[in-house]
Amino acid sequence: MKLVQVPETSFAQQAAELIAHHVSERPDLSLTLPTGATPVGLYEVLRREHTAANFSLSRANVFMLDEYADLPTYPRGSFISFLREHLGDVVFNGSTRLHQLLPSLDPDQLRTYDAALDAAGGLDVAVVGVGRNGHVGFNEPGASLESRTNIVTLSRETIHDNFGEVEPQKYPTRAITMGLKDLSNARSILMLVAGTGKRAIANALLDGRAQPDKPATQLLDHPDLTIVMCDSLAS
Ligand code: GLP
Repeated sequence: MKLVQVPETSFAQQAAELIAHHVSERPDLSLTLPTGATPVGLYEVLRREHTAANFSLSRANVFMLDEYADLPTYPRGSFISFLREHLGDVVFNGSTRLHQLLPSLDPDQLRTYDAALDAAGGLDVAVVGVGRNGHVGFNEPGASLESRTNIVTLSRETIHDNFGEVEPQKYPTRAITMGLKDLSNARSILMLVAGTGKRAIANALLDGRAQPDKPATQLLDHPDLTIVMCDSLAS
């Protein structure tokens, strides 16, 4: 594992450079990108570089990492609207192949998604954030390393972190996520660790032991894992 500990002020730039490096090495790569507060600054950098014609995903396959399955306010609050808002024409440009997960409990969609991943030869790069409880995508504690795209019941903690105090009729209870198998089979993993409440999971990652109740730590054995972490998180 390669650990890049950076001050919060250079986190976005550092992560953007690592992604740009992968894309320059292989412009037609397959990659997955996360949502959340963590990558917002990074996407701003990529968007700027895209506008300046220094960065392009026009030949890439971009796979959504996850999506809510039963979000009552869809598309508001969804992964797809997050991508539209934060990456815009970096991925919505008519050239980038964006593989979408639709809000649905239909098992056929899961198999079709896995087939698309297989047809692309799997992921070249998995960019993942980490939830407070160690979830990656929506692979919650206890998720199997053998799992492929699947529907999960969200933990109370994850619903709270993502939706705060909104009324139950406005938040989802289930999500669709790419599985740990496809993430751990990616040729490279870039894990982004930043934000409040992440000290415990940051230290579990630094500790270096895979723990089933902290899915992010199960990726620690990957041969090409880079963790970009805010230096304020390490105790
Ligand atoms: C969500 C997403 C994850 C993301 C996590 C952390 O639950 N499904 O992909 O990594 O939140 O979010 P944040 O970056 O806001 O801490």
